Amino acid sequence: MKFFIDSADIEAIKALSDIGLVDGVTTNPSIIAKSGRDFKDVVAEICTLTDGHVSAEVVATEAPDMVREGRTLHAIADNVCVKLPLTLEGLKACRILSAEGTPTNVTLCFSANQALLAAKAGATYISPFIGRLDDIGLNGLELIRDIRLVYDNYGYETEILAASIRSVNHVRDCALIGADVITAPPAVIRSMAEHPLTDKGLKAFMKDWEKTGQSI
Ligand code: E4P
Repeated sequence: MKFFIDSADIEAIKALSDIGLVDGVTTNPSIIAKSGRDFKDVVAEICTLTDGHVSAEVVATEAPDMVREGRTLHAIADNVCVKLPLTLEGLKACRILSAEGTPTNVTLCFSANQALLAAKAGATYISPFIGRLDDIGLNGLELIRDIRLVYDNYGYETEILAASIRSVNHVRDCALIGADVITAPPAVIRSMAEHPLTDKGLKAFMKDWEKTGQSI
């Protein structure tokens, strides 16, 4: 399973990259606004931190403008993946950019039918938003399960990029279902290493080791 970092926080991405936990990065207009930085500058800097795909989202709503923006974003670095909204215009732009060999990530997916359309448009990734479905009382993980089944039924190669991940349980469940990629905030990825029994066990080992008076 690939781990993408859902953030434009350079230090947080670097810290996880040092542990070998960054297979790519995703951003969206809200994440860029939060960074307070110039969009193209921050994307360019993130692209130097990973060889994996770095998603940068278009903001146009009509396909020709989306394609123009997508080409501009992809020109920043080879590993920029153009993120497009799941609208008919976004799908049209996805087909054009994908045919040019540009990696694409179709975002804001909330149904298996939408995911089917993205696969038919040649998307590299489909981004179903788990947390936002859970927020309104629906089941985000069920959507991941449905898309997995649909894609496997027809052998679509579009990768399922589970997004809007809010907890370590989301990550575990996505792994159990077979999502290809998860994108999560740095804090969620870091929390995956935590367990109270690990802390307790390590404390006891250190205490007993001290008693031996030895060093390695
Ligand atoms: C990633 O591609 C999405 O933009 C992101 O995961 C959305 O997460 P949120 O619902 O927590 O804003």
